[in-house]
Amino acid sequence: MAGVAAAIDKQFDLILTVPDDARAQLYETMRHSAIGGGKRLRPLLVMATARLFNVEENCALRAATALEALHVYSLIHDDLPCMDDDEMRRGKPTAHKAFGEAQAVLAGDALHALAFELLADEKTHRDPFVRAEMVACLAKAAGSSGMAGGQMMDLVAETTTFDLQTVTRLQQLKTGALISACVEIGAILGRVALDGRTGLRGYAHDLGLAFQIADDILDVEGDEALAGKALQKDEAAGKQTFLSLMGLERAKDQAQMLVDQAKSHLKGYGEEANLLRAIAEFTVQRDR
Ligand code: IPE
Ligand code: IPE
Ligand code: MG
Ligand code: MG
Ligand code: MG
Repeated sequence: MAGVAAAIDKQFDLILTVPDDARAQLYETMRHSAIGGGKRLRPLLVMATARLFNVEENCALRAATALEALHVYSLIHDDLPCMDDDEMRRGKPTAHKAFGEAQAVLAGDALHALAFELLADEKTHRDPFVRAEMVACLAKAAGSSGMAGGQMMDLVAETTTFDLQTVTRLQQLKTGALISACVEIGAILGRVALDGRTGLRGYAHDLGLAFQIADDILDVEGDEALAGKALQKDEAAGKQTFLSLMGLERAKDQAQMLVDQAKSHLKGYGEEANLLRAIAEFTVQRDR
């Protein structure tokens, strides 16, 4: 994780050179949010999956940077006053606190675009069909049938009663879709045909759900200094989560069950998938 984090920092540092013109503040805001901090779990998933299929390291790193750029955009917008209204992220002031709301909106917009620019770039993969498939995959995961759709459901969940099935769908879209895209894009880079991705898809699906349950558990019993963000916000906002529906203990059991299930989807792989298995365990054992 530390290795991937350092590599991602370096990529953003190279890509986001602050220009000597009136766009400087936009770049400063993007750098503030994209460089330094974060678990870099999504890039790690891209790298770990791509490694299964012997993808060239530099290609995988560029795609991994794209997935992290999309994620950072989602965090900047998630923290805005009109969304979760948060002041701390990754142990630093949120983008809008540090630079202003307009700057934060634009930095999010630009990081969103950067993600697709990276995936569509020849340097990420020489085959245009591979690039188009990655772009389509990320577009679907980020849009109204993915993350943005899940964020909408999350807002509605503050004022409406959802059943467990609907909360599961909410989590799948809000968080699971992007996590699944990381694994999928690792496989696309490795030119794995659709019918060869079933196990990986099952793994990513269960991992994504476990990941958001762990985030919701951290919101209740985590340490703000470690998490680097304000906690105990979900209940105060009236958000419905697995926790509000099942209680803490059952939610923890559910998360662990999903991790075990995620790992069982990898039974077709040997030791080469141990990193993916370790990521699954980390997802629920993490303290940040
Ligand atoms: C936080 O994601 C937002 C969710 C989707 C739950 P992470 O927990 O991966 O945040 P960072 O990237 O480590 O800061
Ligand atoms: C955010 O979920 C999911 C995104 C798509 C960014 P949360 O609102 O629970 O994430 P945190 O707790 O602020 O990191
Ligand atoms: Mg939110
Ligand atoms: Mg939030
Ligand atoms: Mg949360």
